[in-house]
Amino acid sequence: MTKLAINGGLPTKTKPFPAWPHYDEREQKALTRVLESRQWWRTEGTCVTQFEQDFAAFHSAKHGIAITNGTHALEVAIAALGVVPGDEVIVPDSTFVATASAILFAGAMPVMVDICRDTECIDPDLVEAAITPRTKGMIPVHLGGHPADLDRLKEIANKNRLFLLEDCAHAHGSEWNGQKVGTHGIAGTFSFQSGKNMTAGEGGIIITNDDELERKLRSVHDCGRLPGEWFYSHFACGSNYRLSEWQGAILQVQLERLDDQRRRRDANGTVLDQLLADIPGITPQARDPRCTLNGHYAYIFHLESSAFAGISAQRFTEAMNAEGIRNQAPYPPVHNLDVFQNGAYKTRLTGEQANEEHAFLKADFPNSRRAATEGYWVPQYCLLGDEQDMEEIAAAIRKIQSHAASLLPGESSGAEKTPG
Ligand SMILES: Cc1ncc(COP(=O)(O)O)c(C=O)c1O
Repeated sequence: MTKLAINGGLPTKTKPFPAWPHYDEREQKALTRVLESRQWWRTEGTCVTQFEQDFAAFHSAKHGIAITNGTHALEVAIAALGVVPGDEVIVPDSTFVATASAILFAGAMPVMVDICRDTECIDPDLVEAAITPRTKGMIPVHLGGHPADLDRLKEIANKNRLFLLEDCAHAHGSEWNGQKVGTHGIAGTFSFQSGKNMTAGEGGIIITNDDELERKLRSVHDCGRLPGEWFYSHFACGSNYRLSEWQGAILQVQLERLDDQRRRRDANGTVLDQLLADIPGITPQARDPRCTLNGHYAYIFHLESSAFAGISAQRFTEAMNAEGIRNQAPYPPVHNLDVFQNGAYKTRLTGEQANEEHAFLKADFPNSRRAATEGYWVPQYCLLGDEQDMEEIAAAIRKIQSHAASLLPGESSGAEKTPG
């Protein structure tokens, strides 16, 4: 039997995963067009405006407002939704810090709740239990591309008159009950950071079907201006969150690939579900039957270390990397981040909220802890590969499982009994 690559054997992966980001002469031509037009600013150009319309149309939304990045998209949306100091907004404990920090930037308190063990998205029962008179809304995250339970969340939001803002940074083109994410609540925010499912290096967008909100979003993102008004009139508190024409031009081309790419990631995710189904100790992120398409920012699975001779997830990851399988780290639980544990978050709060104890920050969130400690994320671009790529991911896991004891402390390549 072959030796593990980490112990000097041959790697399982025989050909590289597709490179990311994808580009071809279309991006090159688009950038040259912007260069030669001398219109590099969205205010004078056409690329960002056209991209906003096309991205919104792809998601069957009325409006798109392009923003500098996904963090700012959340901040702009939260400002336009009227979140103010003293308010609370409910977020999942397993997400990138931006989902929570964007609320702090409005002077309001993010209230984290645990995720569901199976889908790893925010637990609607816990959302309901966390509602107080201060709660203004909720921001579910479609983790790894899998939509949160939008049926329940919509019902809870409507019943309690809360806003439902979808953080779709992982879920370009994902669908819930046949409807694309970002359109189930009042608005949806997306990121185009370099690892995301389509990218311009940095960038973001907010989509909405609400005309009044669109006006506010546009104003907040452009220094408080209003479309059609004199350039130096400023009607609201805003800032400069505008995207450049360079990014608009690249994103127009990236969007042309999204439909094919989301289908390929979804199909390969299903192939991996089948390939991993009978590996003891491996549990893929569950797929709710109402998830009609998973755009897969990552393929997530969990590792039960007892099925791998008790090795840590860290050691498993090192062994996978040596086998040629890529990974990205799962998020640490948000409530455990230093900014919350050392009290720095309170510098954004005022009045009563700044002086209160937020006891939930000391609580245990078993499912987000498990997601952080046992999770393995295969990045989205690996899912743009072919069936052989998927088979090699499964083969690497099986190989590590059968040699797991050689990865225990004290064991070394010399301890491998089988020849390479
Ligand atoms: C769930 C989530 N929300 C928001 C963001 C922020 O996006 P950006 O990096 O474009 O600011 C990210 C980025 O990783 C994210 O994963």
